[in-house]
Formats: sequence, structure tokens, C-alpha cells
Amino acid sequence: MSNTEQGGPKTAPVIAPEPAKGKLGVMVVGLGAVATTMIAGVEAVRRGLAKPIGSLTQMGTVRLGKRTDNKSPLLKDFVPLADINDIVFTGWDIFEDNVYESAAHAKVLDKEILEQLKPYLETIKPLPAVFDQYYVKRLHGTHVKKGKNKRELADQVRADIQNFKKAVDRVVMIWCGSTEIFLEPTAVHQSIEAFEKGLESNDVGMAPSQIYAYAALSEGVPFANGAPNLTVDVPAMIDLSRKNAAPICGKDFKTGQTFMKTVLAPAFKARLLGVSGWYSTNILGNRDGEVLDDPESFKTKEESKLGSLEYIFQPELYPDLYKDIFHKVRINYYPPRGDNKEGWDNIDIFGWLGYPMQIKVDFLCRDSILAAPIALDLVLFLDLAKRTPSLKSIGIQEWLSFYLKSPQTREGLYPEHDLFIQSMKLKNTLRHIMGADLITHLGLEYYD
Ligand SMILES: NC(=O)c1ccc[n+]([C@@H]2O[C@H](COP(=O)([O-])OP(=O)(O)OC[C@H]3O[C@@H](n4cnc5c(N)ncnc54)[C@H](O)[C@@H]3O)[C@@H](O)[C@H]2O)c1
Repeated sequence: MSNTEQGGPKTAPVIAPEPAKGKLGVMVVGLGAVATTMIAGVEAVRRGLAKPIGSLTQMGTVRLGKRTDNKSPLLKDFVPLADINDIVFTGWDIFEDNVYESAAHAKVLDKEILEQLKPYLETIKPLPAVFDQYYVKRLHGTHVKKGKNKRELADQVRADIQNFKKAVDRVVMIWCGSTEIFLEPTAVHQSIEAFEKGLESNDVGMAPSQIYAYAALSEGVPFANGAPNLTVDVPAMIDLSRKNAAPICGKDFKTGQTFMKTVLAPAFKARLLGVSGWYSTNILGNRDGEVLDDPESFKTKEESKLGSLEYIFQPELYPDLYKDIFHKVRINYYPPRGDNKEGWDNIDIFGWLGYPMQIKVDFLCRDSILAAPIALDLVLFLDLAKRTPSLKSIGIQEWLSFYLKSPQTREGLYPEHDLFIQSMKLKNTLRHIMGADLITHLGLEYYD
């Protein structure tokens, strides 16, 4: 095979993913705005009440072969994804509200649709959570597990997983819980052994999200992280993921402002337009906004939001264009807007001979409406990874970076933030695991 548009070097022979047989159990940590919007949305789609807009797994296509072949099947017809009719949800929360009550509280979806889904949503009641207010200052949990140390709490989550496994064929876990305080890796995160000792000694460096992740990975269950928490971004968790063939990916759903950043910044770089400043601010009035009003939780979010530009612009390669960018991100809690966030960006750019220009972006978005399809896609793709011989034991699934503000990579590799490179990587990974030719976009063969 020549190195053509439809076929980069043909990939090594692969063993196809196992089919998606039976029920897929999705365990959601935190049944708040995003989680309930995903769950209600999946049920609405199952009943034909709405379309799964924004979901690649449900609506996306993948081109196969040459442009002239006109072959672009739906992704879900090309790779063996679990059918959404086979998804069974459960989850944990620090409040006892069932999914209907929590969705009504979040006020993302209209009353009309929630009422139609009520009998189903009411059946999903949260299990007691692992929670400690030290890690999320603005919340006071009442529906929580008790244990003498973190190891006991992890064991209780493992028991929840084992119990759920009796009712379903496969399990995936996703964190849709709140943003925890900013934590950095310490000695306790450097190996599985050190981590397990830390669980026993109640090490303060281990937040609840890490206890859930540890339990999932120990049970061979893939884990996705919708928040910017440290969680699986440490050697102990990466080792556990590889050891137990439980795939992980990056963190923090890439929904609104960072999504726009990772579209615009690559465009400026491609055209070699300089950037001197990028000021981003948000007003947000949901519970997430309230949690992020705490400086310690905001710090975790800020780190995640700031990362993308540095990597996209590569100031070390383009010092004249990007060396001195002033990048600022603010989030302001403003209750009247609820889940309907407004994100403003002011971008100071410069062109030919250094002449300055400005771009203003005002994104009136709906946070959970953007996040729900991402959460769904992540669980379906992680389940696919778990059934794919060439992916299940590699740990980090870099091809899922597309969905995340903070992609995770092997140590020493810089993360890829450019949305279009991420999209290409995702689709080429799917072609690769199905033994199809990769697409390089060279295209010279049309002109032979
Ligand atoms: N909506 C978006 O666009 C978006 C984008 C990126 C990241 N996120 C992140 O996703 C997460 C969820 O967002 P949301 O808007 O649904 O927030 P939310 O506050 O509505 O929901 C979070 C839920 O998690 C629960 N919770 C907190 N700690 C818990 C624990 N230890 N165990 C079990 N449950 C716990 C809370 O009680 C709450 O019900 C947040 O961390 C947010 O930063 C959201």
C-alpha cells in the first residue's frame, strides 16, 4: 500500500474488538446536572422523543477508503459499540435525591420532557457516596459511607461494583462529581503499593475521586473523569489501569470555552497570526458554579483551563508570535443564569508587520447540554477499548483526548489539544482497530 490519502502505512494486523453482548452497566459518580442530563437524554433518545445531538457515537460517521468510494458509515455501524438500549445506569451521590429529583433541581431540561421520563428516572436512586468536605468546601454531604479508613471506603465501592456486575455484563465508571480542591501528586501516588499503604493510613493526598477510581481500576472497570481533579493522573493509577486492563483517559469535559479555544488557537497558529493576550471570563449559576466559587476548587479548574494554549501555540517554536501571551481565565458564580453559562473571550492578535487586531467571542451556552453527549461517548468508547485487544491493556487512551480539557499522555509526551488533530486521531484509531486503512489526507493518487 502506498502512502496515499486513503491509506497511510497499513497498520499491523489487528485482532478486532469483541462484540458488545448483553447489558453495559454505567456507574456514575455524582448525579448532578451533567449526569442527570445524560441519563434523561439517553432515555429520551431510546423512546424516540429527541435526537442525540452532539454525540459522535450516535450520529457521527467515519470515511473509509478514497473520497471517490463514497463510503462513510455511521461510527456505530463500523465499530461494535454498545447499543444505548443496552445501557443500565446507577450511581452515587452525597444527596439522596433520585435522578428525577436531581434533574428537576438542576433545571437543565424542561419540565415537560422530565415529566414524561419521570417513572424511569425515579427508579435510579444514588448509592451512598465516599465524601469528605475537606476536598469540596462548598458541599455538605449527608448520604455518605462510613469507614475506619480510606481502604474500607474503597472496599465498599468495590462491593457496590461487584453487586452491580451481577445485573449487567460489563461495567464502566465515570466521574460527574464536583471539582475537588487542587492536589498535586505526592509519594503516595507513585506506585500501587504506596497508594494502598496510603489508603490504610488515610493519607490526606487522596481525594474521594481517587478512592472511586482505585476501586474501579481494581475491579478491571474503565474510568473516565469529567472533572479536572487529579484522580488517575498519577503513576499508581496508570499502573493499575494497565495491570487490570481497565482503560483510562484524560480529564475535564471539553465543552464550552476550552472547546472554542482549541478550535480558534490552531487556526491562528496555522496562519501564523500572533497572540498577545487572551482573556476569558464566565458567569455560571449552577451548583458547579457554586463549588467553583471556592478558590481551592477554582484553582483545580484554572490549571485545566490554562493548559491548552501553551501546548497549541508552542511558544518555543514561535517566540515572535506567542512568547508573551497574557492568558487569564475567570469564573464568576452568578445564580440567575443557572446552567446557562455565558463565556466571553477577548483575544488580542497581531498580523503582518505586527499590526494589532481583536476578536470577541460571546458564547451563550448550556453547560450540561454540551457535556452530556461527551459523557455518553466516553463511556461507550471506554467500553469499546476494554473489548479491544490492542487497547485494553495500554492504560491511557490518548485517542479520547478529543473530549477533554486536559488530555492524558504517557510521561514525556506533550498532550495534543488541537480539536481537529484530536478528531483525526480518534477516527484513525477506530480505523486501526478495525483493520481499515488510515486516512492521511495526502490525496496525490487522484492526480496520477
Ligand atoms: N457541564 C460542563 O460543561 C462541564 C464541563 C467540564 C467539566 N465539568 C465538571 O463536571 C462535574 C459535574 O458538573 P455538574 O454541572 O453536573 O455539577 P453538579 O454540582 O450539578 O453535580 C455534581 C454532583 O456530584 C455530587 N458529588 C460531589 N462529590 C461527590 C462524591 N464524592 N461522591 C458522589 N457524588 C459527589 C454532588 O452532590 C452533585 O450532585 C464538575 O466537576 C464540573 O466541573 C462540567
